[in-house]
Amino acid sequence: MLSSRIQLLSESMTLAITALAKQMKADGREILSFSAGEPDFDTPQAIKNAAITAIMDGFTKYTAVAGCPEVVKAVKFKLRKENNLIYDMGDIITNVGAKQSLFNLTQALINEGDEVIIPTPYWVTYPEIIKYTGGKIIEIQTDDSAGFKITPEQLKNAITDKTKLLILNSPSNPTGSVYSKKELEGLAKVLKGTKVLVASDEMYEKLVYDGLKFTSTASISEDMYKRTITINGLSKSVAMTGWRFGYLACPIRELTTSMKKLQSQSTSNINSITQKAAIPALLGEVDKDIEKMRVEFEKRRNIAVELFNQIEGLSVINPNGAFYLFVNIKNFADNSLDFCKRLLEEKGVATVPGVSFGSEGYFRFSFATDESSIRKGISIIKDFVKNYN
Ligand SMILES: Cc1ncc(COP(=O)(O)O)c(C=O)c1O
Repeated sequence: MLSSRIQLLSESMTLAITALAKQMKADGREILSFSAGEPDFDTPQAIKNAAITAIMDGFTKYTAVAGCPEVVKAVKFKLRKENNLIYDMGDIITNVGAKQSLFNLTQALINEGDEVIIPTPYWVTYPEIIKYTGGKIIEIQTDDSAGFKITPEQLKNAITDKTKLLILNSPSNPTGSVYSKKELEGLAKVLKGTKVLVASDEMYEKLVYDGLKFTSTASISEDMYKRTITINGLSKSVAMTGWRFGYLACPIRELTTSMKKLQSQSTSNINSITQKAAIPALLGEVDKDIEKMRVEFEKRRNIAVELFNQIEGLSVINPNGAFYLFVNIKNFADNSLDFCKRLLEEKGVATVPGVSFGSEGYFRFSFATDESSIRKGISIIKDFVKNYN
Protein backbone atom coordinates (compact mmCIF):
# COMPACT_ATOMS: atom_id res chain seq x y z
CA MET A 1 0.00 0.00 0.00
CA LEU A 2 2.73 2.45 0.92
CA SER A 3 4.89 4.33 -1.55
CA SER A 4 8.38 2.97 -2.05
CA ARG A 5 9.69 6.46 -1.24
CA ILE A 6 8.26 6.53 2.26
CA GLN A 7 9.63 3.07 2.90
CA LEU A 8 13.12 4.40 2.31
CA LEU A 9 12.86 6.43 5.51
CA SER A 10 13.88 4.91 8.83
CA GLU A 11 12.47 5.72 12.19
CA SER A 12 14.77 7.64 14.43
CA MET A 13 17.03 5.34 16.42
CA THR A 14 16.66 7.69 19.34
CA LEU A 15 12.93 7.03 19.49
CA ALA A 16 13.49 3.92 21.59
CA ILE A 17 15.38 5.97 24.17
CA THR A 18 12.86 8.83 24.13
CA ALA A 19 9.96 6.40 24.53
CA LEU A 20 11.77 4.69 27.39
CA ALA A 21 12.46 8.03 29.12
CA LYS A 22 8.78 8.99 28.80
CA GLN A 23 7.63 5.67 30.19
CA MET A 24 10.03 5.94 33.12
CA LYS A 25 8.77 9.47 33.90
CA ALA A 26 5.17 8.27 33.71
CA ASP A 27 6.12 5.52 36.18
CA GLY A 28 7.28 8.20 38.60
CA ARG A 29 11.07 7.94 38.08
CA GLU A 30 13.07 11.16 38.22
CA ILE A 31 14.76 11.63 34.84
CA LEU A 32 17.56 14.07 34.13
CA SER A 33 17.37 14.85 30.45
CA PHE A 34 20.30 15.98 28.33
CA SER A 35 18.77 14.99 25.03
CA ALA A 36 17.02 18.26 24.18
CA GLY A 37 17.73 19.90 20.85
CA GLU A 38 16.27 23.24 21.85
CA PRO A 39 17.17 26.16 24.11
CA ASP A 40 15.59 26.11 27.58
CA PHE A 41 15.06 29.90 27.42
CA ASP A 42 11.83 31.70 26.65
CA THR A 43 11.34 33.68 23.42
CA PRO A 44 12.34 37.37 23.87
CA GLN A 45 9.48 39.71 24.82
CA ALA A 46 9.84 42.01 21.76
CA ILE A 47 9.07 39.04 19.53
CA LYS A 48 5.99 38.09 21.51
CA ASN A 49 4.85 41.73 21.34
CA ALA A 50 5.26 41.80 17.55
CA ALA A 51 3.13 38.66 17.29
CA ILE A 52 0.40 40.13 19.51
CA THR A 53 0.40 43.33 17.43
CA ALA A 54 0.10 41.29 14.22
CA ILE A 55 -2.95 39.49 15.60
CA MET A 56 -4.57 42.71 16.85
CA ASP A 57 -3.89 44.39 13.47
CA GLY A 58 -5.60 41.53 11.68
CA PHE A 59 -2.49 40.38 9.85
CA THR A 60 -4.11 36.99 9.48
CA LYS A 61 -4.41 36.30 5.76
CA TYR A 62 -2.36 34.38 3.20
CA THR A 63 0.88 36.09 2.23
CA ALA A 64 3.17 35.55 -0.76
CA VAL A 65 4.65 32.02 -0.73
CA ALA A 66 8.18 33.26 0.07
CA GLY A 67 6.86 35.55 2.83
CA CYS A 68 5.41 39.07 3.03
CA PRO A 69 7.69 41.76 1.52
CA GLU A 70 8.51 43.16 4.96
CA VAL A 71 9.89 39.87 6.31
CA VAL A 72 11.79 39.05 3.12
CA LYS A 73 13.33 42.53 3.29
CA ALA A 74 14.29 41.88 6.93
CA VAL A 75 16.05 38.61 5.94
CA LYS A 76 17.87 40.46 3.16
CA PHE A 77 18.95 43.14 5.67
CA LYS A 78 20.16 40.53 8.18
CA LEU A 79 22.22 38.62 5.60
CA ARG A 80 23.88 41.79 4.37
CA LYS A 81 24.61 43.23 7.82
CA GLU A 82 25.64 40.09 9.70
CA ASN A 83 26.90 37.75 7.00
CA ASN A 84 28.23 40.12 4.37
CA LEU A 85 25.95 38.51 1.77
CA ILE A 86 24.00 40.53 -0.75
CA TYR A 87 20.92 38.86 -2.18
CA ASP A 88 17.96 40.00 -4.28
CA MET A 89 14.54 39.75 -2.68
CA GLY A 90 13.78 36.99 -5.21
CA ASP A 91 16.64 34.85 -3.87
CA ILE A 92 15.04 34.53 -0.44
CA ILE A 93 12.34 32.12 0.73
CA THR A 94 10.98 32.02 4.29
CA ASN A 95 9.51 28.74 5.51
CA VAL A 96 8.73 26.65 8.58
CA GLY A 97 12.35 25.95 9.41
CA ALA A 98 15.65 24.53 8.24
CA LYS A 99 13.94 21.17 7.85
CA GLN A 100 11.67 22.56 5.16
CA SER A 101 14.57 24.37 3.49
CA LEU A 102 16.48 21.10 3.26
CA PHE A 103 13.46 19.15 2.12
CA ASN A 104 12.55 21.63 -0.63
CA LEU A 105 16.15 21.94 -1.75
CA THR A 106 16.82 18.22 -2.00
CA GLN A 107 13.47 17.53 -3.66
CA ALA A 108 14.13 20.24 -6.24
CA LEU A 109 17.72 19.19 -6.90
CA ILE A 110 18.47 15.51 -6.35
CA ASN A 111 17.67 12.71 -8.77
CA GLU A 112 17.94 9.00 -8.09
CA GLY A 113 21.62 8.06 -8.03
CA ASP A 114 22.91 11.60 -7.52
CA GLU A 115 25.48 11.75 -4.75
CA VAL A 116 25.22 13.98 -1.71
CA ILE A 117 28.20 14.36 0.61
CA ILE A 118 27.59 14.64 4.34
CA PRO A 119 30.37 15.05 6.89
CA THR A 120 29.83 12.55 9.73
CA PRO A 121 28.77 12.81 12.55
CA TYR A 122 25.80 14.49 10.94
CA TRP A 123 22.51 15.97 12.08
CA VAL A 124 20.00 13.08 12.01
CA THR A 125 17.72 14.57 9.36
CA TYR A 126 20.32 14.86 6.56
CA PRO A 127 20.54 11.19 5.55
CA GLU A 128 16.78 10.67 5.82
CA ILE A 129 15.98 13.67 3.66
CA ILE A 130 18.46 12.47 1.04
CA LYS A 131 17.12 8.91 1.10
CA TYR A 132 13.67 10.29 0.34
CA THR A 133 14.98 11.67 -2.97
CA GLY A 134 16.56 8.36 -4.01
CA GLY A 135 19.95 10.07 -3.89
CA LYS A 136 23.07 8.32 -2.64
CA ILE A 137 24.62 9.37 0.67
CA ILE A 138 28.39 9.73 0.71
CA GLU A 139 29.63 10.06 4.26
CA ILE A 140 32.97 11.57 5.18
CA GLN A 141 33.88 10.22 8.60
CA THR A 142 35.55 12.58 11.05
CA ASP A 143 36.44 12.10 14.71
CA ASP A 144 37.48 14.07 17.76
CA SER A 145 41.16 13.94 16.78
CA ALA A 146 40.23 16.04 13.70
CA GLY A 147 37.91 18.31 15.71
CA PHE A 148 35.06 16.59 13.82
CA LYS A 149 35.87 18.60 10.68
CA ILE A 150 36.52 17.35 7.16
CA THR A 151 39.77 18.23 5.40
CA PRO A 152 40.13 19.48 1.82
CA GLU A 153 41.77 16.18 0.94
CA GLN A 154 38.85 14.13 2.29
CA LEU A 155 36.46 16.31 0.33
CA LYS A 156 38.48 15.92 -2.86
CA ASN A 157 38.45 12.14 -2.50
CA ALA A 158 34.69 12.07 -1.95
CA ILE A 159 33.75 14.06 -5.06
CA THR A 160 32.83 12.11 -8.21
CA ASP A 161 31.12 13.16 -11.44
CA LYS A 162 27.82 12.20 -9.76
CA THR A 163 28.24 14.57 -6.79
CA LYS A 164 25.49 17.16 -6.73
CA LEU A 165 25.55 18.56 -3.22
CA LEU A 166 27.66 18.92 -0.08
CA ILE A 167 25.85 19.63 3.18
CA LEU A 168 27.93 21.67 5.60
CA ASN A 169 26.76 22.37 9.14
CA SER A 170 28.73 24.86 11.19
CA PRO A 171 28.40 25.21 14.17
CA SER A 172 27.55 21.54 14.17
CA ASN A 173 24.85 19.45 15.74
CA PRO A 174 25.98 17.07 17.33
CA THR A 175 29.64 18.07 17.81
CA GLY A 176 29.59 21.85 18.27
CA SER A 177 32.57 22.27 15.94
CA VAL A 178 32.87 25.45 13.92
CA TYR A 179 34.75 25.82 10.62
CA SER A 180 37.09 28.82 10.59
CA LYS A 181 37.31 31.13 7.59
CA LYS A 182 40.62 29.52 6.68
CA GLU A 183 39.17 26.02 6.84
CA LEU A 184 36.26 27.05 4.63
CA GLU A 185 38.71 28.58 2.16
CA GLY A 186 40.49 25.21 2.00
CA LEU A 187 37.22 23.46 1.12
CA ALA A 188 36.33 26.23 -1.36
CA LYS A 189 39.56 25.59 -3.27
CA VAL A 190 38.57 21.95 -3.78
CA LEU A 191 35.07 22.89 -4.95
CA LYS A 192 36.28 25.43 -7.48
CA GLY A 193 35.87 24.10 -11.00
CA THR A 194 33.37 21.42 -9.93
CA LYS A 195 29.58 21.49 -10.32
CA VAL A 196 29.00 20.69 -6.65
CA LEU A 197 26.51 22.91 -4.83
CA VAL A 198 26.72 23.51 -1.08
CA ALA A 199 23.87 23.61 1.42
CA SER A 200 25.23 25.59 4.36
CA ASP A 201 23.16 24.95 7.49
CA GLU A 202 23.95 27.93 9.73
CA MET A 203 21.26 27.37 12.37
CA TYR A 204 23.62 27.78 15.32
CA GLU A 205 25.49 30.76 13.89
CA LYS A 206 24.82 33.01 16.93
CA LEU A 207 25.95 30.42 19.43
CA VAL A 208 29.72 30.65 19.11
CA TYR A 209 32.17 30.89 21.99
CA ASP A 210 35.74 31.83 22.90
CA GLY A 211 35.48 35.14 21.05
CA LEU A 212 35.21 33.36 17.72
CA LYS A 213 33.70 35.11 14.72
CA PHE A 214 31.28 33.07 12.66
CA THR A 215 31.90 32.94 8.90
CA SER A 216 29.14 32.20 6.40
CA THR A 217 30.16 29.69 3.74
CA ALA A 218 28.79 31.82 0.89
CA SER A 219 30.87 34.80 2.01
CA ILE A 220 34.19 33.05 1.31
CA SER A 221 34.40 34.01 -2.37
CA GLU A 222 32.35 34.90 -5.43
CA ASP A 223 32.63 31.27 -6.52
CA MET A 224 31.30 30.01 -3.19
CA TYR A 225 28.49 32.59 -3.21
CA LYS A 226 27.31 31.28 -6.57
CA ARG A 227 27.25 27.61 -5.49
CA THR A 228 25.93 27.97 -1.92
CA ILE A 229 22.39 27.83 -0.60
CA THR A 230 22.44 29.51 2.80
CA ILE A 231 20.04 27.92 5.27
CA ASN A 232 19.19 29.53 8.57
CA GLY A 233 16.33 30.23 10.99
CA LEU A 234 15.45 31.51 14.41
CA SER A 235 14.76 28.25 16.27
CA LYS A 236 18.06 27.91 18.09
CA SER A 237 19.58 31.38 18.22
CA VAL A 238 16.45 33.22 19.33
CA ALA A 239 14.75 30.41 21.28
CA MET A 240 11.87 30.17 18.79
CA THR A 241 11.68 26.43 18.05
CA GLY A 242 7.89 26.28 18.30
CA TRP A 243 7.24 29.36 16.15
CA ARG A 244 8.64 27.67 13.03
CA PHE A 245 10.59 30.34 11.22
CA GLY A 246 13.34 29.45 8.79
CA TYR A 247 14.70 30.88 5.59
CA LEU A 248 17.06 30.17 2.74
CA ALA A 249 18.90 32.32 0.25
CA CYS A 250 19.84 30.89 -3.13
CA PRO A 251 21.31 32.92 -6.01
CA ILE A 252 20.53 30.21 -8.60
CA ARG A 253 17.23 31.53 -9.89
CA GLU A 254 16.07 28.31 -11.55
CA LEU A 255 16.48 26.49 -8.26
CA THR A 256 14.85 29.20 -6.11
CA THR A 257 11.84 29.29 -8.46
CA SER A 258 11.51 25.50 -8.27
CA MET A 259 11.64 25.50 -4.47
CA LYS A 260 8.96 28.21 -4.38
CA LYS A 261 6.82 26.14 -6.74
CA LEU A 262 7.10 23.12 -4.43
CA GLN A 263 6.27 25.23 -1.38
CA SER A 264 3.32 26.83 -3.17
CA GLN A 265 1.84 23.36 -3.77
CA SER A 266 2.53 22.04 -0.26
CA THR A 267 2.61 24.41 2.71
CA SER A 268 2.23 27.85 1.00
CA ASN A 269 3.44 30.73 3.13
CA ILE A 270 4.35 30.24 6.77
CA ASN A 271 2.04 31.46 9.49
CA SER A 272 1.53 35.20 8.97
CA ILE A 273 1.89 35.96 12.71
CA THR A 274 5.27 34.23 12.87
CA GLN A 275 6.44 36.29 9.89
CA LYS A 276 5.73 39.51 11.78
CA ALA A 277 7.23 38.12 14.99
CA ALA A 278 10.49 37.29 13.19
CA ILE A 279 11.10 40.85 12.02
CA PRO A 280 12.49 42.31 15.29
CA ALA A 281 14.93 39.38 15.53
CA LEU A 282 16.11 39.83 11.94
CA LEU A 283 16.54 43.57 12.39
CA GLY A 284 18.74 43.09 15.46
CA GLU A 285 16.22 44.37 18.01
CA VAL A 286 16.66 41.40 20.34
CA ASP A 287 20.45 41.17 20.09
CA LYS A 288 20.83 41.83 23.81
CA ASP A 289 18.53 38.90 24.66
CA ILE A 290 20.46 36.68 22.26
CA GLU A 291 23.77 37.69 23.81
CA LYS A 292 22.47 36.90 27.31
CA MET A 293 21.55 33.38 26.21
CA ARG A 294 24.89 32.93 24.43
CA VAL A 295 26.85 33.96 27.53
CA GLU A 296 24.86 31.53 29.67
CA PHE A 297 25.45 28.71 27.16
CA GLU A 298 29.18 29.43 27.15
CA LYS A 299 29.29 29.30 30.95
CA ARG A 300 27.50 25.94 30.98
CA ARG A 301 29.76 24.59 28.25
CA ASN A 302 32.86 25.50 30.29
CA ILE A 303 31.48 23.73 33.35
CA ALA A 304 30.37 20.62 31.44
CA VAL A 305 33.64 20.24 29.49
CA GLU A 306 35.70 20.59 32.65
CA LEU A 307 33.62 18.06 34.57
CA PHE A 308 33.59 15.49 31.75
CA ASN A 309 37.32 15.71 31.25
CA GLN A 310 37.83 14.97 34.97
CA ILE A 311 36.21 11.57 34.49
CA GLU A 312 38.82 8.90 33.93
CA GLY A 313 38.43 7.21 30.56
CA LEU A 314 36.00 9.75 29.09
CA SER A 315 37.00 12.68 26.92
CA VAL A 316 35.38 15.53 25.12
CA ILE A 317 36.74 18.26 22.88
CA ASN A 318 35.88 21.82 23.76
CA PRO A 319 33.28 22.77 21.14
CA ASN A 320 33.34 26.33 19.83
CA GLY A 321 29.62 26.48 19.13
CA ALA A 322 26.02 25.16 19.48
CA PHE A 323 24.89 23.60 22.77
CA TYR A 324 26.10 20.02 22.53
CA LEU A 325 29.07 17.96 23.66
CA PHE A 326 29.96 14.81 21.74
CA VAL A 327 31.49 12.70 24.46
CA ASN A 328 33.97 9.94 23.59
CA ILE A 329 33.10 6.65 25.37
CA LYS A 330 35.34 4.36 23.32
CA ASN A 331 37.20 3.20 26.46
CA PHE A 332 33.94 1.82 27.82
CA ALA A 333 31.63 0.81 25.00
CA ASP A 334 31.48 0.11 21.27
CA ASN A 335 27.72 0.18 21.26
CA SER A 336 26.48 3.67 22.08
CA LEU A 337 22.81 2.66 21.99
CA ASP A 338 23.36 0.03 24.70
CA PHE A 339 25.42 2.48 26.73
CA CYS A 340 22.77 5.21 26.60
CA LYS A 341 19.95 2.76 27.26
CA ARG A 342 21.67 1.44 30.36
CA LEU A 343 22.54 4.96 31.54
CA LEU A 344 18.86 5.82 31.33
CA GLU A 345 17.50 2.59 32.82
CA GLU A 346 20.01 2.30 35.64
CA LYS A 347 20.65 5.96 36.48
CA GLY A 348 17.75 7.94 35.02
CA VAL A 349 20.00 10.08 32.78
CA ALA A 350 18.91 10.63 29.16
CA THR A 351 21.49 11.30 26.42
CA VAL A 352 21.54 10.51 22.68
CA PRO A 353 23.71 7.66 21.31
CA GLY A 354 26.40 8.62 18.79
CA VAL A 355 25.20 5.97 16.36
CA SER A 356 22.12 8.13 15.64
CA PHE A 357 24.50 10.69 14.16
CA GLY A 358 26.47 8.09 12.22
CA SER A 359 29.37 7.76 14.70
CA GLU A 360 29.79 4.91 17.18
CA GLY A 361 31.70 5.33 20.43
CA TYR A 362 30.17 8.67 21.50
CA PHE A 363 27.05 10.12 23.07
CA ARG A 364 25.58 13.57 22.62
CA PHE A 365 25.05 15.62 25.76
CA SER A 366 22.95 18.78 25.40
CA PHE A 367 23.78 21.59 27.82
CA ALA A 368 20.57 23.44 27.01
CA THR A 369 19.51 22.92 30.60
CA ASP A 370 20.23 24.50 33.98
CA GLU A 371 23.65 24.39 35.65
CA SER A 372 22.65 22.39 38.69
CA SER A 373 21.15 19.60 36.52
CA ILE A 374 24.34 19.61 34.43
CA ARG A 375 26.50 19.18 37.54
CA LYS A 376 24.24 16.47 38.96
CA GLY A 377 23.96 14.63 35.63
CA ILE A 378 27.70 14.52 35.00
CA SER A 379 28.36 13.33 38.52
CA ILE A 380 25.91 10.46 37.95
CA ILE A 381 27.64 9.64 34.63
CA LYS A 382 30.97 9.57 36.49
CA ASP A 383 29.59 7.02 38.90
CA PHE A 384 28.02 5.02 36.05
CA VAL A 385 31.22 4.62 34.01
CA LYS A 386 33.27 3.75 37.09
CA ASN A 387 31.25 0.57 37.42
CA TYR A 388 30.52 0.03 33.70
CA ASN A 389 31.22 -3.41 32.31
C1 LIG B 1 21.79 21.40 12.45
C2 LIG B 1 20.33 21.65 12.50
N1 LIG B 1 19.71 22.13 11.41
C3 LIG B 1 18.39 22.36 11.41
C4 LIG B 1 17.60 22.07 12.51
C5 LIG B 1 16.12 22.29 12.45
O1 LIG B 1 15.81 23.59 12.53
P1 LIG B 1 14.31 24.14 12.36
O2 LIG B 1 13.73 24.22 13.71
O3 LIG B 1 14.52 25.48 11.73
O4 LIG B 1 13.60 23.20 11.44
C6 LIG B 1 18.19 21.54 13.65
C7 LIG B 1 17.36 21.17 14.81
O5 LIG B 1 17.69 20.36 15.63
C8 LIG B 1 19.58 21.34 13.64
O6 LIG B 1 20.20 20.85 14.73
